Amino acid sequence: MPDTAVTEFLGSLRRVISNVHLYPAGHPQSEVALDMLMETTGSLTAGIDGVVLSIMDNAFYLDRTLLPQESLEYRDLYRLFQERGLDSISLEGRPSSGDLGELAAFLAKDGSDIPADGTIRLNERPFNRSELVKFASMSQIRHSYTASLDFLQGVADSMEDGEGADISDAVWTVEQLLEQVLLQPGASLLLSSLKTHDEYTFYHGINTALLALTVGQRIGLNTEQLVQLGVGALLHDLGKIRVPVEIIQYPGRLDDKMWTEIKRHPHEGAQAILAGTGEGQEIAALVALEHHAQYDLTGYPDIGRRERLHLYSRITSICDVYDALTTRRSYKRAMPPATALQTIVAGSGTQLDPDLVQVFVSILGIFPAGSLLRLDTGEVAAVVTAGHDGETMTAAIAISADGERVSVPETFMLEASRVTGLLLPEDVGLDAATLLEASQLAID
Ligand SMILES: [Fe+2]
Repeated sequence: MPDTAVTEFLGSLRRVISNVHLYPAGHPQSEVALDMLMETTGSLTAGIDGVVLSIMDNAFYLDRTLLPQESLEYRDLYRLFQERGLDSISLEGRPSSGDLGELAAFLAKDGSDIPADGTIRLNERPFNRSELVKFASMSQIRHSYTASLDFLQGVADSMEDGEGADISDAVWTVEQLLEQVLLQPGASLLLSSLKTHDEYTFYHGINTALLALTVGQRIGLNTEQLVQLGVGALLHDLGKIRVPVEIIQYPGRLDDKMWTEIKRHPHEGAQAILAGTGEGQEIAALVALEHHAQYDLTGYPDIGRRERLHLYSRITSICDVYDALTTRRSYKRAMPPATALQTIVAGSGTQLDPDLVQVFVSILGIFPAGSLLRLDTGEVAAVVTAGHDGETMTAAIAISADGERVSVPETFMLEASRVTGLLLPEDVGLDAATLLEASQLAID
C-alpha cells in the first residue's frame, strides 16, 4: 500500500460527505467524487484482503498503525465518526460503490442508511484497546494541538460569518499548549515543526505559540505572563482571515495594491481581538498590531514614536519569521530549519531583538528538532531533540543508505560532524507528527 493511500482515501471520503449536503443524489459532482472515493479505496486495499480504519483517543488507526498526521488533518472526520458512534470501519476487499455512498451519507447525517451490501462493516473493533494504546503515549500533546486547531477554526468561522471573533476560549487553549510545553518541552518543539498546506494560518498560529511559550519560559516569565504571550502568538495573524485568499496564496511577486492589502492584517487582527468576545486581551491585540513592525521600527505599520515594541511582540516576531521560513507555500520552497536559523541570526539587531535571537538559537540548537539531515553514510536522519552542546543531538534514521524508508526509526546520538547536507520534508516524505510518535521514548 503506498504511503499516501490512506491520506487520499480520507480526503476523498471527506469530499463525498460534504457533497451530500451540497448536491442532490446523482448530481454529476457527487458521481465524480464517489468515483474518486472508489479509486482511493481501491489503492488502499490493493493486494490485501481488507483493512480496518478505527479511532481512539483523538487518533485514526489503519489496522494497528497510528496515523499521526492524518489524525490532525482529518479531525473533522474524527468528530463525525464520534458523533455517529462509529469506532471502526472494516473495508473488505474492494468495497462496492453503493456501500461507500451509504457510508458517506451515514457520516453526513443524511438519514440512517448504513452500508447494506456487506463490503463495509461498522464497529467490529477487531483490535482491543491495549493493542492500540501502546502507540498512543503522545495522545495528550496531540489532543492539545487538535483542540487548538478547533479553536482557531471556530474563531475564523465566527469572523467569516460577519460576527466578532469568538476568542473566549483563547486562554483555555493556550493553557493546554503551555501544559505540554512545561511537561514535554522536547516533544512540543518537535510538534512545532508540523506543517500542512491546507490550514496554514492555523498551524502557523499554533507553531508560533509553542515556540513563543518555550522562549517565554526560558526567559523566566510567570504563568500569567506566559498565557498572555501565548494568546498573542496564537492570534497574531488573525487579520489574515480578512485579506482575500487569492492575495495570501498569490504565487508570484505581489504588486503594490496587493501589498497594501497584506499590510492591513496587523490592524485587522488587533481590531478583531479587541472587538472579540474575550476579556483582557489588549496585549494580544498589541502583539497582532506589532508583529511586523520590526525591532528597529522600520517595518509595518508605523507604530508612532514609541521607543520599542512590547516584549511579547518581539518574541512573537522571531517565532513567526522562523515558522514562515520553514514552511512550504504555494509560491516558495521551505527553508531547512538550520538555514532559517541563519536568516534569523542575520536579522538580529535590525529586524529582530538580538538578545531574544540569542535565546531562540540556544533553544533550537544548530540543527533544530524536525531537521532532516543527510549523513556521511548516505542515510537520512531526522533530529528528534537538538543537543545543547552544539555537537550532538538525538536523531533517528528515516531513510537507509540504499534509499529505503525506515518504518520504525530508532533513536541514537548523532554527532554534528557527520552531517553532509540538509533536506526538506517533501524530499523525504516524513512529517513531524509521525516522527514524534515513532521516537516518543527518546524525547524528554
Ligand atoms: Fe503576519
